[in-house]
Amino acid sequence: MIVLESIEQTERLAVIIGETAKASDNLVLTGDLGAGKTTLTKGIAKGLGIEQMIKSPTYTIIREYPQGRIPLYHMDVYRVESGAADLGLDEYFEGDGFSVIEWGNLLKEALPVDYLEMLIEKDPTDLDKRLVSFKAFGRQAEALEARILAQWEQDHV
Ligand SMILES: Nc1ncnc2c1ncn2[C@@H]1O[C@H](COP(=O)(O)OP(=O)(O)OP(=O)(O)O)[C@@H](O)[C@H]1O
Ligand SMILES: [Mg+2]
Repeated sequence: MIVLESIEQTERLAVIIGETAKASDNLVLTGDLGAGKTTLTKGIAKGLGIEQMIKSPTYTIIREYPQGRIPLYHMDVYRVESGAADLGLDEYFEGDGFSVIEWGNLLKEALPVDYLEMLIEKDPTDLDKRLVSFKAFGRQAEALEARILAQWEQDHV
């Protein structure tokens, strides 16, 4: 588990994720309203070298940002109730970009085959603090998690 003491630390972790992500890596962001999923995605975009403003895709489901080292596919599936399998998201998941899916756990059977789940939890006693834990589903996700943690530890010695 990683303890993020401030929004700056969240942004630093996010930049690391953006810098280490590879094509067809998938990151499922899980956490309550206001946990920091969109904040994290903005930092990921920065790590990918995207300068464009990241807007929440809540009503569009997906926004594509092709300007960085690899494309960023930012999805928010909070309002996707059923028929997620019909959305054709697999083309993104297996494509040449990095998919970041807010509320991705709601996709259930339409989840990517291989993905890294990142759980962000608020700390009830400290409004600026977040607790992060990863769970890898698949070999590619394991490799992504290992790269992220290695870089994070290197930054925190
Ligand atoms: N350490 C931290 N990491 C991330 N966000 C933090 C932190 N400390 C405070 N915050 C605040 O928490 C809020 C996170 O909002 P954000 O929109 O990123 O959450 P979200 O998980 O995307 O919410 P939603 O489920 O509504 O989309 C922001 O207002 C941010 O300033
Ligand atoms: Mg959000």
